Amino acid sequence: VEDNRLNLIQSRIRDFPDFPQKGIIFRDICPILKDPAALSAVTSLFEEHVRAQFQQVDLVVGLDARGFLFGPLLAQRLGVGFVLVRKKGKLPGATVSVAYNLEYGKAEAEIQEDAVAPGQKVILIDDLLATGGTLYAACSLMNQQRAEVLGCLVVVELKELNGADKIKPHPVYSLLKY
Ligand code: PRP
Ligand code: ADE
Repeated sequence: VEDNRLNLIQSRIRDFPDFPQKGIIFRDICPILKDPAALSAVTSLFEEHVRAQFQQVDLVVGLDARGFLFGPLLAQRLGVGFVLVRKKGKLPGATVSVAYNLEYGKAEAEIQEDAVAPGQKVILIDDLLATGGTLYAACSLMNQQRAEVLGCLVVVELKELNGADKIKPHPVYSLLKY
């Protein structure tokens, strides 16, 4: 069953060489969203992993922007809330932020100061792990707020960039590795 789901998901990822800049192979997950069976396969695999690995989860935390596509679906399945880590300048009220580098640029990640409470157990989710700069920044925000990062979920992991090493000791679960 699981193999069929992974094959379906893999068939719904498109490669675009030299986007957004020369030398980058962009792994586009838009076809997953366009196919309800593939999107459901992603959500089920994430849900099964989280239920098997973690006794208690308080929140799912999604990364701007493509983590917002998968995160709320998972949060609903788990019966927990969803929190946004946004690019800087998008969130109202008191916020905390951190700068980071990613595979093809740099950015600043931000959360609302009251988004997570100390001691809350959170799962981070994004579409893709490349250098790990983005997830590392989100883990830093969670640590600053004294939330406990149980682990990180991504659809695609680019193994040669060693992003999982960067976010150690937090475990990464990826559905597909390139
Ligand atoms: C992409 C991707 C991840 C990040 C991974 O997002 O969705 O969030 O890069 O790269 P890293 O592991 O090297 O940090 P991007 O910042 O391009 O923004 P978007 O989701 O708003 O398109
Ligand atoms: N984010 C960082 N690197 C990426 C890639 N190669 N494809 C899609 N999203 C990315």
